[in-house]
Amino acid sequence: MNWDIFIKTKPITKLISTSFRSASIQDLDQILIIERRVYPQPWSEQKFVDSFNHTDIDIQLATQDQTVVGYCLTLPSMDFVDILNICVDSDYQQQGLGWQLLDNLCKQHQGSARKAIILEVRESNIAAIRFYQSYGFKQIDSRKKYYSNGEDAKILRLQIG
Ligand SMILES: CC(C)(COP(=O)(O)OP(=O)(O)OC[C@H]1O[C@@H](n2cnc3c(N)ncnc32)[C@H](O)[C@@H]1OP(=O)(O)O)[C@@H](O)C(=O)NCCC(=O)NCCS
Repeated sequence: MNWDIFIKTKPITKLISTSFRSASIQDLDQILIIERRVYPQPWSEQKFVDSFNHTDIDIQLATQDQTVVGYCLTLPSMDFVDILNICVDSDYQQQGLGWQLLDNLCKQHQGSARKAIILEVRESNIAAIRFYQSYGFKQIDSRKKYYSNGEDAKILRLQIG
C-alpha cells in the first residue's frame, strides 16, 4: 500500500517591528534609493549632503530588520519644528509607518519649548495631505508658486504642546 504523507506546516509569520535611529552619511545611498523611487521630483544628492552637514537638521530613520524603510528630516527652531522631508518606501506605505515617524518626532520634542510642527506640502500631493490631516494637522496658510515647477504649497500645522 502506498501511503502519501502530507505534512501541513503552519505558515511562519514573523512579527517585524520598526526601530528608529539617527541617520549617518553611510545611510545616504539607501535614502537616495527610496527618495528617487517615491518622489516624482526627488531631492538631489547634494541637498541631502547639505542636510547631513547642517548641524541643526535632524535626520531620523525608520528601519525594519536593519533595512531603511522611511525617514524624516526636521529643522527644529525655538518654538516649533519644521518637517523638511518625510518619506516611506513604496512597498511599506499605508502600513502605519508614516504615523510612527510622526509619533517618534512628537516624542523627540515632548517637554521641549517647541509647541508645534509645521510643514509645506504640494497642493497636488493629495495622499500626503490626507495623511497629515488624519494625524491632526490643519492648514494655516498657503504659498503661491512655492515649488520650482510653479506649484503652490499648503502650510500645515500640528499643535504638540
Ligand atoms: C505621506 C507618507 C509619508 C505617508 O506614510 P504612510 O506610512 O503611507 O502612512 P500611514 O500608513 O501611516 O497612514 C496613516 C493614515 O494616513 C492616510 N493616508 C496615508 N496614505 C494615504 C493615501 N495614499 N491616500 C489617502 N490617505 C492616506 C490614511 O488616513 C491613513 O490611515 P489608514 O491607513 O487607517 O487609512 C507616504 O505616503 C509617503 O512617503 N509618500 C511619498 C512622499 C511624500 O509625499 N511625503 C510628504 C511630502 S510633504
